[in-house]
Amino acid sequence: MASPTIESILHEKRLFTPPESFVQHAAIKHIDQYQALADRAARDPAQFWAELAAQELHWFKPWDTVLNWQPPFAKWFEGGKINISYNCLDRHLTTARRNKAALIWEGEPGDSRTLTYAQLHREVCQVANVLKQFGIKKGDRVGIYMPMVPEAAIAMLACARIGAPHTVIFGGFSAEALKDRLLDAEAKLVITADGGFRKDKTIPLKAAVDDALANDGVPSVENVLVVQRTKADVTMVPNRDHWWHELQATASPHCPAEEMDAEDLLFILYTSGTTGKPKGVVHTTGGYNLYTHMTFKWAFDIKETDVYWCTADVGWITGHSYIVYGPLSNGATSLMYEGVPRPSNPGCFWDVIEKYGVNIFYTAPTAIRAFIKMGDELPKARDLSSLRLLGTVGEPINPEAWMWYHRVVGGERCPIIDTWWQTETGGFMLTPLPGAIPTKPGSATVPFPGILADVVDLDGNPVAANEGGYLVIKHPWPSMMRTVYGNDERYRRTYWEHIPPKDGQYLYFAGDGARKDEDGYFWVMGRVDDVISVSGHRLGTMEIESALVSHPAVAEAAVVGRKDEIKGEDIFAFVTLEGQYTPSDTLKDELKQHVVKEIGIIARPGEIRFADALPKTRSGKIIRRFLRNLASGEAVAGDASTMEDQSVLDMLREG
Ligand code: PRX
Repeated sequence: MASPTIESILHEKRLFTPPESFVQHAAIKHIDQYQALADRAARDPAQFWAELAAQELHWFKPWDTVLNWQPPFAKWFEGGKINISYNCLDRHLTTARRNKAALIWEGEPGDSRTLTYAQLHREVCQVANVLKQFGIKKGDRVGIYMPMVPEAAIAMLACARIGAPHTVIFGGFSAEALKDRLLDAEAKLVITADGGFRKDKTIPLKAAVDDALANDGVPSVENVLVVQRTKADVTMVPNRDHWWHELQATASPHCPAEEMDAEDLLFILYTSGTTGKPKGVVHTTGGYNLYTHMTFKWAFDIKETDVYWCTADVGWITGHSYIVYGPLSNGATSLMYEGVPRPSNPGCFWDVIEKYGVNIFYTAPTAIRAFIKMGDELPKARDLSSLRLLGTVGEPINPEAWMWYHRVVGGERCPIIDTWWQTETGGFMLTPLPGAIPTKPGSATVPFPGILADVVDLDGNPVAANEGGYLVIKHPWPSMMRTVYGNDERYRRTYWEHIPPKDGQYLYFAGDGARKDEDGYFWVMGRVDDVISVSGHRLGTMEIESALVSHPAVAEAAVVGRKDEIKGEDIFAFVTLEGQYTPSDTLKDELKQHVVKEIGIIARPGEIRFADALPKTRSGKIIRRFLRNLASGEAVAGDASTMEDQSVLDMLREG
């Protein structure tokens, strides 16, 4: 099987029209219907979103202004009062959805639980009251560092209910990374668990929180709420640490949802960029609620009886938008899975689909590629006939993996939606509407109605069909990030200054390269900056370099992505050592472990190569292009004459 190369999608011509059996029941059935929606939205985006906001969401008070756009700062639905927890819970309770499963949870090892909308509402209210007991009020930030248990979703919704912005930190991040994020957000309280189950092991989440908070490491944190999950032996610090289950038991199940301004902060989610320091992406309430609601509804063509499963973790934007908020706002049944495929349980995904009769399955190309390796027998041994729609996200999907997904998992009857979007965009930007848009393997197809996307050059001029360029969004959309937390300047610089405004129109720079084909289909090629995607996890090379140079042995480090058949990219680090250290395998392992400590297991370098020097230009800039070539074992491409010292390349090649 080929790895996801640009070459493999350049020549992709196959077209899959939506299967008749799917179209019959689809809400949006024809490309003309999509086009009419997209045209109407393009003529007057604000009006388009305003109509949907009024029709689809509950507002305590209507807005005064739909869009206030002072580039690059957008405000949507100013003056409107809304609460996303109310839209996800309360409004369903007066309907037949009251006793419908909101969350189905398949846990490890062998645990499971279903929460109806009424039950979920009750628990969210109780936990919201617990937060209030600790003095958490509107505007106070709460850190959430949890395994994939229902309490993670309950915690998010409880925060949203009382207007306390949450910042969820993925459980695979280390204590150090957790600390950085809690400090930046100035979190007042942390919600965690004693531990989590991961790949036949347990991970000590509470111990990591203890490390992060040790020696008053995060002075703003006053209390820690601990969910009991693994029954690990944990130290409870008096007056700081409290058991979730004890406090929940006596908390009132009545907690009215706070009436939030549409532009009140809903959450901060940290993501990697091109500098060493992760960015706190800011999302606000009303626009995010509307956009995740609409994209979930139309792109997944959701039906009342569907069981929907997204395999992401709630620690990422995919979990926020498409496990918790989008599905619940629609009154859907959202399945949460605590496990991950692993050698001891390679067929677990197919077991879950069969067990719950999953209808819509949404996962990442890296998982699909791993399944291909395991062979067709595992999925074929399970009844997957309940599936009617498949989705993918996180990185470009290579046509071979797409075809396998279509054939083996989808039984050739399920459309595949390849959804391109980002932490920053809040929801899908490019995606087929599955009943209306014919798909091409490897293409995220067309913009969601209301999204004006294009591929341009660095001056903002649209490039010709099939020419490479930069993916941009030309008009603000409701769930766009509002800023980088505490750093408007970084927001402006990162997203709005790479490409100048064109004809008065500001262009959002996504950081991805793309091309549009002769049919107007988008093909996303991957990042054009120093961000890499390892098993769909987004990491900044600078972040890993900073972690490496914080080790006393390291003088200089340069990190690049190397193509990997399963992970998409793997981390390859070139390291020069301080004089008194000598290269060794032990030191390599130590450095890998050091990165795990600084960032987390997701950032463990696949390979470290020691060098006497790194290739640099005469002005001292590291030439990453050469390093990428070296990492993948290719010949160094391009002109090396600008290099300061030619012999460096030979040394690096030899390792
Ligand atoms: O490079 C694109 C890639 O993932 C980046 C965003 O990463 P993150 O903020 O972590 O969000 C991931 C989940 C939304 C993008 O800049 N990416 C995401 N989806 C796709 C994709 N690349 C190609 N095709 C996709 N469907």
